[in-house]
Order: sequence, then structure tokens, then C-alpha cells
Amino acid sequence: MTLPAHEHATHEGGLVPPPGCPAHAATGPGGAARLYGPAAETDPMGLYEELRATHGPVAPVLLDGDVRAWLVLGYNENRDVATRSTQFSRDPRVWHGWSTGEIDPATSPLMPMIGWRPDCVCADGEEHQRLRSAVTASLDQFDHRGIRRRINRFAHELIDTFCEAGEAELVDRFTEHLPMLTLIHLLGMSDEAAPKLVQAARDLFKATETSLASNAFVVASLEQLVLDKREHPGQDIASALMAHPAGLTDEEVVHHLRLILLAGYETTANLMSNVLRMVVTDPRFRGSLAGGQMTLPEAVEQVLWDEPPLMVCPSRYANGDTTLGGQQIRAGDMLLLGLAAGNMDRAVRPDPAAPVHHNRAHLSFSAGSHECPGQDVGRIIADTGIDILLTRLPDIVLAVPEESLSWRSSTWAKHLTALPVTFAPRAPRTQQFEAPLPAAPPPQTAGIPSPAAAPEAAPAAVPGPAAGPGARPSWWERLLRMLRLG
Ligand code: HEM
Repeated sequence: MTLPAHEHATHEGGLVPPPGCPAHAATGPGGAARLYGPAAETDPMGLYEELRATHGPVAPVLLDGDVRAWLVLGYNENRDVATRSTQFSRDPRVWHGWSTGEIDPATSPLMPMIGWRPDCVCADGEEHQRLRSAVTASLDQFDHRGIRRRINRFAHELIDTFCEAGEAELVDRFTEHLPMLTLIHLLGMSDEAAPKLVQAARDLFKATETSLASNAFVVASLEQLVLDKREHPGQDIASALMAHPAGLTDEEVVHHLRLILLAGYETTANLMSNVLRMVVTDPRFRGSLAGGQMTLPEAVEQVLWDEPPLMVCPSRYANGDTTLGGQQIRAGDMLLLGLAAGNMDRAVRPDPAAPVHHNRAHLSFSAGSHECPGQDVGRIIADTGIDILLTRLPDIVLAVPEESLSWRSSTWAKHLTALPVTFAPRAPRTQQFEAPLPAAPPPQTAGIPSPAAAPEAAPAAVPGPAAGPGARPSWWERLLRMLRLG
């Protein structure tokens, strides 16, 4: 999922809209609730419950620009919409809002979420199967133990960059890096390109002045990757997408590489941040983990139920008139999957405080033909990374009052912006990794996008501690150096 850049910072305590300000009003034309703006973004769960009490399992809502949609709140109704793909299309071109002028595609901040792109997210039926079969085959080629071993290495080396300090901001130093490093590696990115791509792809989400340049850099890097893999295919997602019998064009391959990178990064980083926040703020949660009453995979599943990384999933479009949750849905209407609201539906969770144990029936990866194909990879990154962090730094405690934690929020998701912790300083790990990593491919010489397009140029290459005299440091060493300097 490509999350839009127009997000707002909120604190747990909440922002209060100026009295009478129409742009900040909780309701818009027709009295429908706004799913955007400070009121909605401060307490989304509260808003979903109000809507459920007023409208039942399906509620009329307004998106940015007061674009009309239905928010599906019921668990069963969400599953219905996600699985009845002939009735509810995933193709945005079915939406009537394009022809009624309800949205200006040139300026609407909704476009990254609801605009059409040539990828499997925006396709139905046979076309969806064609594109999706290539995506799932490209992910299925990896053996989970191999992915774990790689994540293991990335996690240890990230922790080595801050463990001596006795303090760290875990979102910046850990949870946002680990998924990105893993995904870039799985995509097949060259050692040369990786450090800048990690930075650019993270920057793309942050709504900074450099986000557009970062997006251009990410796309250019992926286009270059496709050219390189045509010449030198490997065991990676890019090569598998290109070789798949579904016959993806180069443009489709680039779109799917970008989709995988962006769909997998933000969600997995959110999940890891949320689990670690629970560890340092909820003594019961931490006690159950430490005491063995809850395993780490169970803790991750609990957080997936309680705080889905994507709270609202865009979008489905009614192929014809129908009734859903007591509401009359018209052909072409837009429906949003309320994943967080559905997970809290009393119909399936009479006591939301009760532990879910092994139950994986939540909606956080959606359902039906578009259900997340990367969920195993997301779970492996989260489980492995958090396990290593808590094993190495079992004494982490929150370094600030819990009330001062802040989020970047939007209609679709909430991201913890920082998780500062302290712990007893420890020496970096000296132990060697079980298996040596494969040799780096030869450096690229042509077609690499100009460093000016990146948000920040990589520091000059200086041999790292592991490099022999005169040897060029690997991308990984250079990235670690950037982190240490940062
Ligand atoms: C905790 C982590 C993750 C969460 C919570 C998550 C959640 C989701 C959700 C809710 C959807 C939308 C499904 C729909 O439209 O009904 C989705 C789609 C998708 N996700 Fe994930 N995701 C995660 C990690 C990943 C990873 C790691 C990858 C890739 C390695 C990935 C690749 C994709 C792709 C390609 C789609 C589009 C599938 C389609 O339309 O057929 N996701 N994900």
C-alpha cells in the first residue's frame, strides 16, 4: 500500500480543532463523518465506535476533499466485501466519482491510495490472477530459514550501531530500517544502490520536501534493477517477476517491485514499532512475554488484532446496486475496508481485553483474492527482529513519559514517530554469523540515478573495519557508518 504523504502529527492527548473551523469539523456535507483531519486522526478507534453505534456495520464517511465513501465496520461485512470480488471490484475505474467531478485527480492527496496503476492491487479476475501469480511465485521462491538468517544478520548489525550508547530511538534506528533492508535485499538490489535506496524509500513516506525526489529516485533505481536483472538474473524478486510465465512487461515489473517495497515496508515497520511500544508501556504484556505465557509470534498476532498496521484499507467499488449491513449501496460507490474496526467488532470479540492466543482470523492482512501475499515475510521480519532486540537488550525501558509519544496519522494508518528507550550499555556483538554471505555482485557503472536525486548523498567510501587494505567497503558497511554518524 502506498500511503499518502499528507499526514498529521498527533499526540496521545489529542489536538483540539479550533472552534467553528469548517475545515476541522468532524462532519461534512450531509452530516457524514470526516475520516480525515485532526478530529478523526486523534482517536480513530473512538470514531469507528461512534459510527458503529449510529449507523451499524456500514457507515457513510467523507475522505479528504469530502469525497464520499462507505466505511465497513463489521467483521463479517468486511469479509463479505473482501471476498465477493464479482460484486465488489478492486479496479478504481469502476468508481463513479471520476465522472461526477467529485475529485480532482491532478491535486487530490487521495490519488496514491485510490488512483489506478498497472499492478495487481487495481485488477480483478483473470488480470488480477495473472499479475498476482507472478508476485506470489516471486515471494514463494525464498526459504524462510534463509530469510531469517539474513534478517538475523541485519538486526544484529543495526543493534551494534547503538548498543554501546545505552540509549536509542528505536523507530529511527531499528524498526524502520530492518524491513527496508530485508525487502531491498529480497528485491535483488545491488550492493552499490542499496544504502541510498534505503534512505530514499524511507524518506518517500515522510512528507518532506525531498519526498518527490525520493520517489523519483526509487522508481529510477527499480528501472535500473530491471535492466540489470535482464543481463544478470539471480534468485530475487525482480528476476522471478521477469521470468514468470505471466509475461509481465518491464513497466509492470517496476510497478510490482515498487508495490512490494512500499506495501511491505511501512506496514511491517508499524507492526514492529507497535509491538515494541507495548513491551515498554504495558507491564502485563511484557510480563506475559517474559514469563512465557505468551510467545513472541502470539504477541505479534495480538498487536495485529488490536492495532492493524493499516487501519483502513482502500478500496472496493460496487459493481451493481446492493445492500450491505442495512445500507443501500449504489453501483460505482466506494467502500473502504475498516480493518481496525472489524477486528474490534463485538460479534467476533465479545471481550476485546481477552488475549487472542493463536487466533489468526483478524482482518489485518485483509481477506479474499487480494489478501496480503507478503504476510509471512512481514511476520518473519517482525518476529526475528524483535526477538533479537529483546534478547540482546532485555532491560529496555521507555526513556520518556508515555503521554509524550507521538504519531503521524492519516485516514489509513497511524505511525509511531519515535520510541526512545534506555538500557544498560553493552559491547557490540563479536560473534561471527553462521553462514558467510554470498559475494557482492560487481558494482554498477551505468545508469545509476544521480546522487543529487537522493535525499542525502552517501558518505565517501572509506574501508570499514572488516575490509582488507585498499578494499572497497560493502554497501552494508557504508550504511552502518551512516547510521553511526546520524
Ligand atoms: C505486517 C505487515 C503487513 C501488513 C499488515 C500488510 C497488509 C496488507 C493489506 C491489508 C493488503 C491489502 C489487501 C486488500 O486490498 O484486500 C496488502 C496487500 C499487499 N501486500 Fe501486504 N502487508 C504486510 C506486509 C507485506 C510484505 C512484507 C509484502 C511483500 C513482501 C507485502 C505485499 C503486499 C502486496 C503485493 C499486496 C497486494 C496484493 C493484491 O492486491 O493482490 N505486504 N497487505
